[in-house]
Amino acid sequence: MKKKFYSLLAMTLALLLGLSGCIEPEEVPTEDPSNGDDVEINEDLHVYQNTVYVYSTAVNESLLTTDLSPAYLILANKVSALGSDYVPAGLTVIEDQLLTSGDRGNGLQLDRTALQALAAMINEMAADGVPDIGVTSAYRSYSYQNSLFEKYKTIEMSTITTDARAFFGDEYIYNHYTSLGKNALSYDDAVQVVLSYSAAPGTSEHQTGLCVDFVTEEYGDRLDLSFENTKAFEWLQENAYKFGFILRYPKDKVAVTGYSYEPWHYRFVGREAATDIHFSGLSLEEYLNSLG
Ligand code: DAL
Ligand code: ZN
Repeated sequence: MKKKFYSLLAMTLALLLGLSGCIEPEEVPTEDPSNGDDVEINEDLHVYQNTVYVYSTAVNESLLTTDLSPAYLILANKVSALGSDYVPAGLTVIEDQLLTSGDRGNGLQLDRTALQALAAMINEMAADGVPDIGVTSAYRSYSYQNSLFEKYKTIEMSTITTDARAFFGDEYIYNHYTSLGKNALSYDDAVQVVLSYSAAPGTSEHQTGLCVDFVTEEYGDRLDLSFENTKAFEWLQENAYKFGFILRYPKDKVAVTGYSYEPWHYRFVGREAATDIHFSGLSLEEYLNSLG
């Protein structure tokens, strides 16, 4: 009952703000994000930049209220490189409880503000009945990204992977490889495939310290498309923006982001930008362009 009351209160407030011209109706999240009947909505109403946010857990508003800030809107992609020297300030070691069991004790780090928002988000997920979520990748240094990129190239040059088939198509693979008795890609083709799913060193968003890759125990902590089938993914799709996170490489934005779909990769941009991106359907690239 209490949950319904606060949802209703949130919606009424949103409506009043909307009627008074203070709010864009499409920016108002009116759904109660909780799933479990035993979860009680936090008694505080969170209204920020004319948007009403409803949480199941007590959230510290000061940790989430991140205005549009250049610090959280850093762009790292194929045409906007960070360079080999870039090391973000404020890197903080992620608590073990947020990591997969296999990643605990490895000292994974994230930007301090992004980490506070991440901890609040994972706490909220558990309260909403979605406890199966773990971080497996966060900040990556230039040299670590370099070693990953080299490893992937070696793999793509040693066998014809499903990524290679998806990238080139069966016909290309047959004509250029299997029909000729070759069962591994050339160097140039291998690089092309790797660049569709892994950033070259100096261009990875992971080097900003503002993003994470999630996995679930249900799918053996595997970092692959199976994440799309999880309750965690469903929850994140609906709620991540409330904590300042966005799905960074959506299925319908491959041509804009330059990377294949990654349901597991979430980027912290702050709550205002994340809300705008969530309700507009823009990619980060498109959103930054729209800001001018
Ligand atoms: N997988 C993403 C694109 C990266 O390597 O940064
Ligand atoms: Zn990632």
